[in-house]
Amino acid sequence: MKIKVKKGSLAEYETGAAVVTHFEDETVLEGAASSLDERSGGLIADIIRLGDFTGRTNQIAVIYTRNDFPVKRIVMAGMGKRADFTLERLRGAYARAAQQIRTLKIGEFSSALHFRGVDLPLERMAEGVVEGVLLGLYRFLPFKTVDLEQNHKITGFTLLEADDAAFKAIRSGAKTAEIIADAVSFARDMVSTPSNQMTPTDLAKEARKSTRGKNIRCTVLDAEQMKAAGMNALLGVARGSHEPPKMILLEYNGGKKSSPAIALVGKAITFDSGGISIKPSEKMDQMKTDMAGGAAVIAAVRAAAELGLPLNLVGIVPATENLPGGNAFKPGDILTSLSGRTIEIVTTDAEGRLILADALTYAARYKPAAIIDLATLTGACIVALGDHVIGMMGRDDKLKQEIREAAEFTEENVWELPLWEEYHELVKGDAADYKNAAGRAGGAITAGAFLSKFTGDTPWVHLDIAGPAWIAKDKPYIPKGASGVGVRLLVQFLRNGCLTRKK
Ligand code: BES
Ligand code: MN
Ligand code: ZN
Repeated sequence: MKIKVKKGSLAEYETGAAVVTHFEDETVLEGAASSLDERSGGLIADIIRLGDFTGRTNQIAVIYTRNDFPVKRIVMAGMGKRADFTLERLRGAYARAAQQIRTLKIGEFSSALHFRGVDLPLERMAEGVVEGVLLGLYRFLPFKTVDLEQNHKITGFTLLEADDAAFKAIRSGAKTAEIIADAVSFARDMVSTPSNQMTPTDLAKEARKSTRGKNIRCTVLDAEQMKAAGMNALLGVARGSHEPPKMILLEYNGGKKSSPAIALVGKAITFDSGGISIKPSEKMDQMKTDMAGGAAVIAAVRAAAELGLPLNLVGIVPATENLPGGNAFKPGDILTSLSGRTIEIVTTDAEGRLILADALTYAARYKPAAIIDLATLTGACIVALGDHVIGMMGRDDKLKQEIREAAEFTEENVWELPLWEEYHELVKGDAADYKNAAGRAGGAITAGAFLSKFTGDTPWVHLDIAGPAWIAKDKPYIPKGASGVGVRLLVQFLRNGCLTRKK
């Protein structure tokens, strides 16, 4: 779908549908709403006066115009009360409007950022609008071969603006949002693709493809190279599968040579059966999503490069299946990780922290300014915080604060869990240095405590995305399924100027 920003006025623009947002219970129309109302002989005022449309959150009304009016339909999108305005409301309103327009099989539509006087720069608002439209319209269709007539595709969305300065701000915001929304959709696609089509090899190919023509260097380590390096925790997990593991490395150098990189690490278990400690079969199909952290990292690095962010970035994505083949690692086994520390396997289903142990050790060797890891790491995180929340752990207050600020902007809910000393006691091993599981109590946190052992003294934050990586019920701009969680968060964090961080 093509996103355009044009000089002009919405009421004069030939379009299948013009989206007009409206705050709840307001009767005075402003901006584009007012000129559309005037030109259409009061159609908007009518529907508001009759009470059919009040502007409550997520409310949509379609008004049909007549004669030679260039706007064929006016789509009213409820924004809720003006006093409660947030960017999230705006994203949601445009997502709902776009979905309604798709249902009506309209070819293209348009809108204008016509209200002023809310406390947000126009550029941010344009970002919110375009994100809402693109993310709200996302669907995963590559495997559909029947009922294709239901898969109507909207071809274009145009934002109209007459004022010069406003036009520039909107154009810039729209471009940024397009890059970010494309990255989120890319992550959603990778996560939704089933494990027979998204093996570690496929994921590495996607990563390589995503760097094409961009200022990103992609290196993929194979099992032999991992073996030579000593990544025996990762290799241990990979042993139960015939699919070869891959360690995907992405380097983007947009900053000064001398400035330390930010390292993003993402868990990519392309299918988690649990291994020998096999999972119950119910819902096991969902474990194709166990590479959502890795997908988010690959997508975020691509977006950072496309945005030309002035920073250095390294993406590290350990990828393997976790299967119970004849050669699989077993409970009781001891693995020697890349760090040299030994790990006793309590359960082969706690595999994410094993591949991350090696990936984090590898990340620390870059001497980065910060390491952020994303992983669908524990069911316990879902038990603790619910389906919609990212569990955050780490020991660097400044970094955690920066993540919180980015998350507030993108409305990806992040909540911190503690990493007190007692938890660290629980991951000490009996025969080995550490053990990979410590019982049900505080399961998300003991996983975090385990990871911390492999980060050296680099500022580090762990984000457990097990809950929000896959959502069971539609949200306004997150259709049910793979959410792409973490992509917007990471990009926002990078944009917010962690770039100036000094070690
Ligand atoms: N990939 C799972 C965690 C998970 C569960 C993600 C549900 C998304 C939805 C992870 O590898 C796992 O199996 N964790 C175990 C750890 C336990 C055995 C210590 C868990 O959470 O049960
Ligand atoms: Mn597991
Ligand atoms: Zn897993």
